[in-house]
Amino acid sequence: MPSADQPAEWVRAAVDPAAFTAEQQALGRVWTFLCLDGEVAQDGQWFRTDLGGRSVFIQRFGDRLRGFENVCAHRFHPIRRERSGKGAMVCAFHHWRYNAEGQALGIPVCDEAYGCLPKQLNAHLKPIEVEAFAGLVFGRFPDPEGETLADFLGDAAPMLAALCPPGSTFTRFGGEVPANWKFLTHVTLDDYHIVAVHPSTFGANGYLKAKEVTYARFGRHSAYTTEPGDDPLAGVLADCRAGTYRARDYLIVNLFPTFGASQFHTIDLLGRSYYSVMVLRYAPLAHDRSRLEGWLIDGPIAPPRPGLLGVFDRFAQKMIARIVPFFARRVLAEDNAVCEGQQSVARQITEDQRLSPAFEKRIGWFEETYAAEVSAARETAPSQPPM
Ligand code: FES
Ligand SMILES: [Fe+2]
Repeated sequence: MPSADQPAEWVRAAVDPAAFTAEQQALGRVWTFLCLDGEVAQDGQWFRTDLGGRSVFIQRFGDRLRGFENVCAHRFHPIRRERSGKGAMVCAFHHWRYNAEGQALGIPVCDEAYGCLPKQLNAHLKPIEVEAFAGLVFGRFPDPEGETLADFLGDAAPMLAALCPPGSTFTRFGGEVPANWKFLTHVTLDDYHIVAVHPSTFGANGYLKAKEVTYARFGRHSAYTTEPGDDPLAGVLADCRAGTYRARDYLIVNLFPTFGASQFHTIDLLGRSYYSVMVLRYAPLAHDRSRLEGWLIDGPIAPPRPGLLGVFDRFAQKMIARIVPFFARRVLAEDNAVCEGQQSVARQITEDQRLSPAFEKRIGWFEETYAAEVSAARETAPSQPPM
């Protein structure tokens, strides 16, 4: 049992690099959102990110998506240095060239250097599993016996299909945050801070009313909705399946371990509705450092009206396309500052916290799932360092 002034178990990976490494090894087995499909829509396009504490990249080869650890099989140079791009898999260090299966088949002066043909060298990039669902690409370390992506997503699937359809147009944003990924994930699951932290946006109208908010838990995931009714999630799911869902205020879907998609509703001066979707992931980089990876997706919108109103509609749409990213960045910067603060006192975080059952219950759900996943991984991999 931890003593009252020891760091809480859930925060150990935020203060101890070895615990962070072990945690990430465990979580790399879980299907993890990696990027929008639009990042790898064209043949040869690739996107670099992190999975389970390791640099990885996803690349399209025709109609197939492949994923690899971003480390050359020769002498460990990264294949991809930029965030995204397009082109063959050629290592910049000695020009080894890989095929779609990740095998090095173009090796300069192979006979001179190794006395054999490239194929005989049998050098491969390490693969990861990747699979797309709707407009989202997920990955995990290879686990042929593991659950399917469909089983992992469960009831989240119809909502994700509605919020993030394939081929959506988007704006990408992001940057590093000096805070552990769990603080950043917690703040996305916390609806209590809006007045204190976002006074000019989400908190401008005061605190949420607990009766007007529904939190739903399904599998390892959760959702937030302000739709009315006895079973609001059932209504949301039905509308999502029918392709008619439009958020009254917000719908937020959070997938374990770190993914959030929110559809939010804005209206212009003439009352026309616009729907934007923000997709977020906090890629864990180190125990005290994460990278925010975010995308703003253009949501459904009614066609411009005829005549002068149509001119206004087009103008308003352009303005909203600029205003939404501005406010999204402001809100995220406010959240990031809170998380940097928590990181600065992470060693003093004990089990003695007081989650609000009304507004912070999803943090408790998340931590239950986290503990179960990490301990399941520890049981199946006894040689891992203790967390
Ligand atoms: S390290 Fe990649 S080709 Fe040498
Ligand atoms: Fe926030």
